[in-house]
Order: sequence, then structure tokens, then C-alpha cells
Amino acid sequence: MATPEPLLRLVRVSKQFDTAEGAGALAVLRDITLEIAAGESVAVVGPSGSGKSTLLNLMGALDRPTSGEVWLGGQDLQDLGEHALAAVRNRQLGFVFQSHHLLPHCTVLENVLVPTLAHPDGGAGREAEERGRLLLERVGLGRRLGHRPGQLSGGERQRVAVVRALINRPKLLLADEPTGALDRGSAAELGRLLVELNREQAVTLVVVTHAPDLARQMGRVLELRDGRLTDGEGPRG
Ligand SMILES: Nc1ncnc2c1ncn2[C@@H]1O[C@H](COP(=O)(O)OP(=O)(O)O)[C@@H](O)[C@H]1O
Ligand SMILES: [Mg+2]
Repeated sequence: MATPEPLLRLVRVSKQFDTAEGAGALAVLRDITLEIAAGESVAVVGPSGSGKSTLLNLMGALDRPTSGEVWLGGQDLQDLGEHALAAVRNRQLGFVFQSHHLLPHCTVLENVLVPTLAHPDGGAGREAEERGRLLLERVGLGRRLGHRPGQLSGGERQRVAVVRALINRPKLLLADEPTGALDRGSAAELGRLLVELNREQAVTLVVVTHAPDLARQMGRVLELRDGRLTDGEGPRG
């Protein structure tokens, strides 16, 4: 029996950035090969500047590798133009960053519906709105639908950002230092929530973090160092 196609596959991926003339290129990622199966939860750890965000951006079709291949759901992203990549990002991927990037003048519910506005049928239908309400209730914000981001705590704002990332039922949720701006208690709570949603929503989860507590909650820990990826401490337990 053939092994099922992984949700995400990186084949000999390298990424270099140009530097000032004559200084040569900066090699950030070197020859990274990696498979992530549907449903997995994976942490990517490594020191600051080790290329974690660069790697996540390649996984999220926000940037292209210098060489190598990135496959998502059996599709080589290299074959897609900018328009198709934008559709992949909108429909198949969810993003959470250290900063929530919520729209300050929109309500909590309006914010989580923003990714549905790009749908060909013209956006937030009743179904999307209902899903938004249910997910906000699920993350404990059922009574805050009409509030603006400024009326929420940092942890609550990140939970809104997580719901916004999940609203289009993505296959893959990518989080870059999602707890980086939170206090210890809120960070632990958000970490737990991400793992629970990974299971409940059947969404594959990749979390970049330098917080060991958060990394340990994931099923697999990968460590980025000197541009290369190694299996870290292994799964919890
Ligand atoms: N667009 C860019 N242009 C040039 N250098 C970059 C760019 N993005 C990141 N870098 C460099 O690549 C290295 C890795 O950055 P990054 O992926 O942000 O690391 P991390 O997220 O692990 O802190 C750093 O040295 C950073 O300065
Ligand atoms: Mg980073």
C-alpha cells in the first residue's frame, strides 16, 4: 500500500537573501527536507535569527525558496502564479502572528469574517457568520462579538486572531511566535487552545516559537540551527 501524500512536503529547500553588493548572499535555510502529515502538530524551535520565520513563510506561500520544492496537499507551489498562490493562502492556510493584526475599528465578529470576504460568492454569508459565532464561543469570546479589539486583553485578541485564521476551514494553521507578546498565563492558555483546535478542527498545526513550554505541547519538535533542521526532543510524554 502506498503511503499517503503528506499534507506538506519540503524537498531540499534552500533560501538565501541578497546582501549589499560584494558581500555575497546570506544563506538562511540549507537543504531542508521535511514531511508533515495531515493532523500533526509540529513546533519549530531555534535561536532568534535562525530562520524560523523564513521557513514558515515558505510553508505559507508568502515567499518562494531560492531552490528546492514546497508541496502542499500534493500541489507543487512552484507551479502556481501569484493569483493562485493568493487563493491557496486564503482557502487552505491560516496564519497567526505575534501581533494580532486585527482591524481596530471593526468588531470581533467582523474581524474574524474578513478572510471570508474574498470568496467568489461575495463573502460573509449566514453560514460563515454562524461559524464565526460558534468558534468565538468555543474560544470563550461568545459575549465579546460586538467589542472592538481595543476592549480586549492581549490573550483575548490572540484568540480572535486564531478564530480568524480558522474561519475558512484551512488545512494548515501556521503560527509565528503566537504567544510572544503574552504574559505567562495567557501564553499557556493559548498554547492549550491551539492544540485542542488542532484536534477538534482537524487542522494541521505548525508553530514557530522559542518558548519551550509551547513547543513541548506539540506532537513533534523540530530544531532549526545553522540553516538545517533536526528532530529535537521528540514528542511529548
Ligand atoms: N527579507 C529579508 N532580507 C534579508 N534578510 C532577511 C530577510 N528576512 C530575514 N532575513 C535574515 O534571515 C535571518 C533569519 O531571519 P528569520 O527567519 O526572521 O529568523 P527567526 O524568525 O528565526 O528569528 C536573519 O539573519 C534575518 O536578518
Ligand atoms: Mg521570527
